[in-house]
Amino acid sequence: MYIDSHAHIQISQFNSDREAVIKRAIDANVSNILIIGFDLESSTNAVHLAEKHDNLYATVGMHPHGAKDLTPDILKTFRQLLNHTKVIALGEIGLDYYRNLSPHRAQKDAFDTQLDLAEEFKIPIIVHNRDAYMDILPMLEARSGKISGVLHCFTGNVEMMHRSVELGFYIGIGGIVTYPNAKDVQSVAQQLPLEHLLIETDCPWLTPQFRRGKRNEPAYVIAVADKIAELRDTSVEEIGKITTNNFNNLFGTDL
Ligand code: NI
Repeated sequence: MYIDSHAHIQISQFNSDREAVIKRAIDANVSNILIIGFDLESSTNAVHLAEKHDNLYATVGMHPHGAKDLTPDILKTFRQLLNHTKVIALGEIGLDYYRNLSPHRAQKDAFDTQLDLAEEFKIPIIVHNRDAYMDILPMLEARSGKISGVLHCFTGNVEMMHRSVELGFYIGIGGIVTYPNAKDVQSVAQQLPLEHLLIETDCPWLTPQFRRGKRNEPAYVIAVADKIAELRDTSVEEIGKITTNNFNNLFGTDL
């Protein structure tokens, strides 16, 4: 069995066939899916969708793109949703210095505010990074021991991976690992201590190589597990077993 630890199946790209996508995942042995919020609407919709399916869980949070729009009202709603039994993490939150849709100052403030929230609720975080490890890692290191979570869609090098693992963080490996030129991500997948590995799709984006160019979906997380198994000279079933166990350890589930 496999768990997709990062999917956005609540958004409009899945409006025409969402239930079929969920069924295809189950049929492919992807038993559980964590639906990730990134603003108010997608967080609320993630929770609503998770309410309807036993095998789905949700997160709520404001992505760095929307950092400048994080109001006290939105935070109030997040606080309410964080008490929901299906909400098992806060995120995705973090810093994005590639698209820069919010000013860096606003991104850091929103990240810090939500890190406070995660500490208060004792809930793990889902971290988004793009070209910003130099600022994200010190912010997490400043809270060492008080916060846990996953660095989703990890694209850093091996050294950054070791720093993250030292903090107790998990490393989310997605479809990029299947791309022929993704040497850094492949090295990380090869050298990462297995007890820190999670697998994810980040669907509808980052489709694995075998379907590259098409919409991604949770069933394809097996292509990620398969590539990691190949890189580590183990079986795909073993990667499924270990990452399910890791998911339970991080999020306190019993899957
Ligand atoms: Ni995402």
